Amino acid sequence: MKSVYVETYGCQMNEYDTEIVKTILAQNSFEIVDDVESASVVLLNTCSVRENAHRRVLQRLSILKELKIRRPTVILGVIGCMAQNLKTELLEEKIGVDVIAGPDSYRNLPDLISKAIGGGKLADVLLSRVETYSDVFPTKDEGANAFIVVMRGCDNVCSFCVVPSTRGRERSRDPEGVVEEAQRLASMGFKQVTLLGQNVNSYCHDDCDFAELVQSVSRVDGIRRIRFTSPHPKDFPKRLVDVVRDNPKVCSHIHLPLQAGNDRILDKMRRTYTQREYCALAQHLRSEIPELALSTDIIVGFPTETEEEFQDTLSVVREVEFDSAFMFKYSERKGTLAERKYPDDVSDEAKTSRITRLVELQRKISFKRNSQCVGRVFDALVEGKAKKPNQIFGRNDANRIVVFPDNGAKPGEFVSVKIHEATPNTLIGKAV
Ligand code: SAH
Ligand code: SF4
Ligand code: F3S
Repeated sequence: MKSVYVETYGCQMNEYDTEIVKTILAQNSFEIVDDVESASVVLLNTCSVRENAHRRVLQRLSILKELKIRRPTVILGVIGCMAQNLKTELLEEKIGVDVIAGPDSYRNLPDLISKAIGGGKLADVLLSRVETYSDVFPTKDEGANAFIVVMRGCDNVCSFCVVPSTRGRERSRDPEGVVEEAQRLASMGFKQVTLLGQNVNSYCHDDCDFAELVQSVSRVDGIRRIRFTSPHPKDFPKRLVDVVRDNPKVCSHIHLPLQAGNDRILDKMRRTYTQREYCALAQHLRSEIPELALSTDIIVGFPTETEEEFQDTLSVVREVEFDSAFMFKYSERKGTLAERKYPDDVSDEAKTSRITRLVELQRKISFKRNSQCVGRVFDALVEGKAKKPNQIFGRNDANRIVVFPDNGAKPGEFVSVKIHEATPNTLIGKAV
């Protein structure tokens, strides 16, 4: 029996896809192993979104080359977004890769690997307009949360972003497949599902829109919490606002990527909204949904961004008071519109100075927002052991991390916790 080891880089979508790949391979008589040394096939499921993700994979490949020198029969495969982005470049002799498969080619992996065992070097990077792997159920261990991919690809054209070229056109999975997967997960003991898509508000399958999909998933017995990520700020339908507010299973947390706070930069990024439109939407969501937590993604140093324009990003952050944020320095990506049109002309020093100030501001705001939770009691869905000894952690409805003394609760159990202290990233409390 051939044994396969898969390593995952990148986003939640890739984590999910790794499980899809494992299912496909297991159905084709491969044994899935947890240890690279005992594997006859090693696959890296890769990410291309920023240069450092890309670099990490190349570093890993140079280490794995040694493994191939020691055990020449090992098959090395690169799958996922970087495979799609670089295509056959990775098959060059000096890199030592045998198999390349893009995100829509996973059904062909057993065949590609068999041919590689026969001595070939193969790539399959055809993107599909229809593949959703809806009938392939991901292998899943136990835990608190399970991801469900509800749509693949992206039809937006944000100029900085490689995802449309690595994941192809947008397509929505049938709602029946999504609900069936939620039922299976519930029967395995999962209490929370997170619905994933690059742009969930574009979900559309026959007459079913995203709000309706969320409602259908919420009718699954045993699922007690539903999260989703990400909506695009260009459209946030009223029906989805109503669902988040009125359906007790749907968590009061929305991740709404801002990217930049200046209109000229937003336009160059092709985000299709202005600073005022974004702030109005954030304000509207906060006023409609009590206790809403808002998080975001921000890029600093997009080509031609001036210090003054960066100040606009800081003012939006001050105005909206995000509960948390992922913040990135602009990283030029091969195959994007920005790469073709705009030289990466903001110096690394300027990017570093901007991100440092942004992170500092956000830290203060997160601390302020978390401090408002002190004295309150939340239901935490336990995820596992915390870094501190004898402490465990979970998340509350608003997705805040709650750390408390280990009371024996296992991952997937709910515990009521009274908060007595806040830090910028966590709430600290005690089970009540
Ligand atoms: N589809 C998701 C985003 C996926 S990528 C959405 O639109 O919400 C996750 C985040 O990575 C983006 O929101 C963006 O902030 C960041 N990102 C994408 N491309 C980048 C680049 N070239 N440089 C720096 N950050 C980037
Ligand atoms: Fe990339 Fe924009 Fe699509 Fe998100 S919405 S994946 S940032 S192109
Ligand atoms: Fe995800 Fe990275 Fe691809 S963020 S969609 S794995 S480029």
